[in-house]
Amino acid sequence: MKILFLTHSFNSLTQRLFIELSARGHTVSIEFDINDAVAIQAAELFQPELIIAPFLKRAIPDTIWRRTPCFIVHPGIVGDRGPAALDWAIMQEKTEWGVTVLQANAEMDAGDIWAAETFAMPPVYLTRKSSLYRHEVTEAAVSAVLRAIERFAAGHFRPQPLDYSCGDVHGRLHAPMRQTDRVIDWKTDDTRTVLKKINAADGFPGVLDALCGAQWYLFDAHPEAHLTGTPGTLIARRNNAVCRATVDGAVWLGHLKRKARQPEDAQPFKLSATYALQHYADTMLNDVPEMVCDVFAASHAATYRDIWFEQKNAVGYLHFAFYNGAMDTGQCERLRQAYLQAAQRGIKVIVLMGGADFWSNGIHLNHIEAAESPADESWRNINAMNDLAQAIMTNERQFTIAALQANAGAGGVFLALAADVVYARESVILNPHYKSMGNLYGSEYWTYLLPKRVGRDKAISLTQNRLPVSAGAAHAAGLIDASFALDRTAFIKKIENLAGQLAHAPDYAARLQRKIQQRRNDEQEKPLQRYRDEELHQMQLNFYGFDPSYHVARYHFVHKLPHAWTPLYLARHRALCGGKTNISR
Ligand code: COA
Repeated sequence: MKILFLTHSFNSLTQRLFIELSARGHTVSIEFDINDAVAIQAAELFQPELIIAPFLKRAIPDTIWRRTPCFIVHPGIVGDRGPAALDWAIMQEKTEWGVTVLQANAEMDAGDIWAAETFAMPPVYLTRKSSLYRHEVTEAAVSAVLRAIERFAAGHFRPQPLDYSCGDVHGRLHAPMRQTDRVIDWKTDDTRTVLKKINAADGFPGVLDALCGAQWYLFDAHPEAHLTGTPGTLIARRNNAVCRATVDGAVWLGHLKRKARQPEDAQPFKLSATYALQHYADTMLNDVPEMVCDVFAASHAATYRDIWFEQKNAVGYLHFAFYNGAMDTGQCERLRQAYLQAAQRGIKVIVLMGGADFWSNGIHLNHIEAAESPADESWRNINAMNDLAQAIMTNERQFTIAALQANAGAGGVFLALAADVVYARESVILNPHYKSMGNLYGSEYWTYLLPKRVGRDKAISLTQNRLPVSAGAAHAAGLIDASFALDRTAFIKKIENLAGQLAHAPDYAARLQRKIQQRRNDEQEKPLQRYRDEELHQMQLNFYGFDPSYHVARYHFVHKLPHAWTPLYLARHRALCGGKTNISR
């Protein structure tokens, strides 16, 4: 079937649906929802049988939905209508939520229902909106969209009109959520409530709050079990986060975004909390004590750690749950240090776990953007990533497994390839390319690691096509070693089994020797340093050369500027018409 995606951006859910539908033989083309005229032109050019809107922020023009059936993916249960569906579901502590696929008509979110899926809500004070969207909502949306398409293709299915008198319609129309609905009262709100409010706003828009004499949007909250203090005050800092007392304990805040004082001011963007506060005033955290937490300490009480290690028998699990998968210079250095220390612990396998939401998305573009010299910070950050990748590749003490429980993009994918074995959860999406970031050349030894796994031709197509790849397709291409388990718990269990088997393999010593010899042979053929130098030569041109594309693309990405057109590698209908561009340009 010819299917057009009309979407605000090519976000994770849209990527996943694109992959699932393409794998089932549908011809999918994508148009960003820039304005009515562009959307209408896209529908005319492509002549789709069906339009799907996986992630839209406004209504579809009636000239489109009157002519072609349009399926809206709404992140709410049947009957739920209005924006901020997930925000309300978290704030109202729903125990069950869902996704509905409905047909666009004149009334927002009130069209006939083609399919719906439900899921159990995780504990709301422990689950962020962004996480919920990337996992539960995405899985439910995939099932619901596939079922809706099947029904549509069958031709005889009659979609269900929305009828609130029906006993099984539990959703309701709700108002947009304002900051006044989210406000935290530090004098009365307990830790659970504070966490719930920040979680309901995570990703976007954050909870607006006063802190250290300025207005900030709060993100990335974590519970703290032991620290206490005067409610509302900052009582500790650790790495990139600050700890703020509540009436019955404390919460860690990982990220902040400054509220612009005037609409015409440069728009601030999300930064890690310590970075943001010190950027605002460098003495800001002088009186806030640093509370170090050892990466290797066993900790069962709730607290904030972005890197931690667990050992089970002869296997060590190194977790690095960096917000949004972005790894700044300091985080790369700390992770390398932790990896090197783990390697000394007499274990036979190190498993690189990443985080539950992302494995890694490469260098930290927001911190680079905020630096005094973004070019210098880009250089420092990529060198720190390379040092980490090198430590993994040259480890002769044990095997390393990269366990991708969540998505990875750009340098994050190539960092994973530095491991000896790469496994991914079945639902994972990989973006093994840098080019979308202003023709960034990329480093992390990708010119060594990628062709070694997939061959030269596939390496070129993966890096040039700029398309997302499913874990299954990545395995088929040789990019990773296997993919299994949709469910995160099942994935981790399987990883533990595989790591245990490797650690106790009767031929472990011989296998380790073979890996060491292979690396030495490769080194003889072409030293790692030469790959690094060649890549960094290109990166130097990206960072310091005459062509500013990388800096411009990074600025657009970090400031989340709306798209002005859809790239031709996504808008296939435009590519097919000789690259006919959007009329808005
Ligand atoms: N640095 C800083 N922030 C990053 C980041 C990075 N490298 N990669 C992703 N993010 C942030 C996004 O800004 C977004 O922030 P938000 O919390 O304010 O919404 C969040 O992570 C999620 O990213 P999003 O783009 O919405 O996720 P996605 O799953 O739809 O797309 C990617 C994933 C990897 C395709 C996309 O995020 C991307 O292109 N990232 C940049 C990768 C890159 O070029 N890295 C530098 C070269 S190594």
